[in-house]
Amino acid sequence: MPVSAYKAYRLFFKTMAQHYTNPIIKTFAALSLFLFTACGSNNNQALSERKVSFNSDWKFHLNDSIKDKDTIGAATQWRDLKLPHDWSIEGKFDLKSPAGTGGGALNGGLGWYKKTFTVKAEDSTKLISVLFDGVYRNTEVWINGHYLGKRPNGYISFRYNLTPYLNYEKENEIIVKADNSKQPNSRWYSGSGIYRNVWLEITGKVHVLADGTYITTPQATAQKAAVNLQTIIKNEYPAQKTATITTTIYNGDTKVTSVTKEVTLPANAEQTLNQETAVENPELWSVEKPQLYKAITEIKVDGEVLDTYATPFGIRTFKFDTDKGFVLNGKQVKIKGVCLHHDLGALGSAFNTRAMERELEIMKEMGVNGIRTTHNPPAPELLDLCDKMGFIVMDEAFDMWKQSKTPYDYSNYWDQWHVKDLEAQLFRDRNHPSVFIWSIGNEIPEQWNESGAKTGKELAAIVHRLDPTRPTTAAMNPPIVTNGDVTTQFDKAAQPNALAASGALDIIGYNYAHQTYTQHQKNFPGKPFIATETTSALATRGYYDAKSDTLKMWPKRWDIPFHDGNPGNTVSAYDQVQAPWGSTHEATWKVIKKHDYLSGMYVWTGFDYIGEPTPYEWPSISSYFGIADLAGFPKDVYYMYQSEWTDKPVLHIFPHWNWKAGQDVDVWAYYNNADEVELYLNGKSLGKKSKQGDDLHIMWRVPFQPGMLKAVSRKNGKAVLEREIKTAGAPDALSATADRPVITADGYDLCYVTINITDAKGIFAATANNEITFSLKGNGRIVGVCSGDPVSHESYKGSRHTALNGKCLVIVQAGDKAGTLELTASAAGLKETTVTITTK
Ligand code: GAL
Repeated sequence: MPVSAYKAYRLFFKTMAQHYTNPIIKTFAALSLFLFTACGSNNNQALSERKVSFNSDWKFHLNDSIKDKDTIGAATQWRDLKLPHDWSIEGKFDLKSPAGTGGGALNGGLGWYKKTFTVKAEDSTKLISVLFDGVYRNTEVWINGHYLGKRPNGYISFRYNLTPYLNYEKENEIIVKADNSKQPNSRWYSGSGIYRNVWLEITGKVHVLADGTYITTPQATAQKAAVNLQTIIKNEYPAQKTATITTTIYNGDTKVTSVTKEVTLPANAEQTLNQETAVENPELWSVEKPQLYKAITEIKVDGEVLDTYATPFGIRTFKFDTDKGFVLNGKQVKIKGVCLHHDLGALGSAFNTRAMERELEIMKEMGVNGIRTTHNPPAPELLDLCDKMGFIVMDEAFDMWKQSKTPYDYSNYWDQWHVKDLEAQLFRDRNHPSVFIWSIGNEIPEQWNESGAKTGKELAAIVHRLDPTRPTTAAMNPPIVTNGDVTTQFDKAAQPNALAASGALDIIGYNYAHQTYTQHQKNFPGKPFIATETTSALATRGYYDAKSDTLKMWPKRWDIPFHDGNPGNTVSAYDQVQAPWGSTHEATWKVIKKHDYLSGMYVWTGFDYIGEPTPYEWPSISSYFGIADLAGFPKDVYYMYQSEWTDKPVLHIFPHWNWKAGQDVDVWAYYNNADEVELYLNGKSLGKKSKQGDDLHIMWRVPFQPGMLKAVSRKNGKAVLEREIKTAGAPDALSATADRPVITADGYDLCYVTINITDAKGIFAATANNEITFSLKGNGRIVGVCSGDPVSHESYKGSRHTALNGKCLVIVQAGDKAGTLELTASAAGLKETTVTITTK
């Protein structure tokens, strides 16, 4: 392992240990740091850790015309880079892109990666595999000229055993072809290339099979948890071997229990070992306190440790109940979830753990307790984070089966690959305590006919065989059993859903159709409910049509081009615009919150994502569905959820206060923990209001006068919170705030800097759209700029960007040297600002 990669990984855990406040995460990070410190190696040392980063020192060449591995010698220009990498995000938005605006109008293409590395002679007794967490797509891999294989699925993790083809003490060359040239193949922005982490896995020749453990806790009470450990052991010697397998369970650093068994494995054979143990007084995994345990499996042959394999797991009981909804550790928990696509805004699809963690932090702060990985297996680190932060994950497999949604999508590979891919997902993800539901598909076209029922049964059987502890669902749009009293805006109104009726699914998953939820118990007796996907309301952050009392259904229908929107392709951020198949944010939540048997919902979506710019097309290139925008800045409705989904006091008033004199402007307030809110304009009361019935906001219609709006929320006459919004003068200055002033000098860690435009008095200039230029001094780089504007065609990878409604985001990545970074933001006619970031 190169020194830099070792350092990077070690520092990654150090960052986690330093920055997480959660003691469980700290402990995990500290343990990992210990392991890496103890076992790290570099190019001159033998490989002594089981899994090491293989991200550094790759070369990359993008060329649609070199299709054959044997002709890549013709490629003269190779770019040095470090993975993860997404080449599409580096390109220009292109009206003619075959990916279409649905795919973010960014181009795919065919990319080649190669890397040389050496392995010490003393490692020749070991097995060495390469693990790709995800490559988009149609990946082919060669080692030293030997073809290792192909993987069409762009989201699945896969590995190859390199051992038979390695040279020791000499150079080895790995070549990866990623072919994303056939477009369109996705309904959203996919990104291209090796966009997730790559690892080497090193074991002795008797070892735990990759993803070969399965830990379940069939009974768990506060007093005791029964723990079943299933471990697939493989002997890769051409002779019989007797191995001693010891699995030790840790709670943090504390050893809890240990079991040992001896097994004799024939030559080149694999065996599943079952061990049982118990944990006394277990600390249960919950959303509030996501306690993690770890099982360390050690394999010894002739007294020598040949493999040490760690499986983090959690102890919890849960069920989806037809009356009580989701019950976790005996307690009813409403799932307040969001759907997430895999792109990370300005970073494109190039995975970064801190970027993912930040998204989850923003969601957690809003009160979210559930994540649906739409519509594909996620980066494994997403699940690690959800384990540690306490999210209820719906882990989804497919957006299509055999019937396509776009011409070149996964349907083309379905017959040959779906079993293998689904199994790989199950093996990889089934120990994660955060995973509670497997979704076998999203809005699968076959749901309407018998082939959908048949495939649904086939997939559900795979899931149940590999993980009998969790239920299956599918995201159906919508699940209807009869031509009964169902209201839906779909053309196939009230068409019966064969997949829903088939009995294949443990939980009936609803995409949209909130009008039908109250019919669920009647339509599906004995089957629990989950709203797999809801809402699809639309908004541009910080933009408002001054009057909020008309509900807009945009577009008219999903397949009818839309030309009746706002100039500039904006969408009002009062919760008043929705896709016709969805609802406002308030409408669906009002239903879900009312009935216990409705387990919960996953809102479409937590963040805006690249592609699918509904209701518009070009020049819009990113979505409007997010509760936060593409930069991660919350839209107003974030605070509606926060007021409903958390206990912390909330008072949020909007819009901004820069309008034309005399113009009527609707002022909304989201609040909680109070009986009333009083609004003042320039010191004069505009009256008190309270939410009535199931209201989720209050509103005043106010003739605009410049000055200050102030809201005070009160409980029993006592002020709880105050909020003010002031009319801003002309833009005058920039201000910068770093989300974390100290980051780790590991070459990966990120600092997110928010730039605000203010007037001469420091008042936020909520309608300012100045172009801002960024420069960075020190050992680091700007890796992303974004304003959250779905219409902007400025590169996310540039060093200048136009603000949207007073705000812009810059993402700074640490280099690998400790020091100081100075980020300066400047704009014509405005006072510049500099923020200092320490890297250590
Ligand atoms: C759903 C679909 C999502 C997204 C969304 C937009 O039907 O499952 O992937 O397209 O619509 O509203």
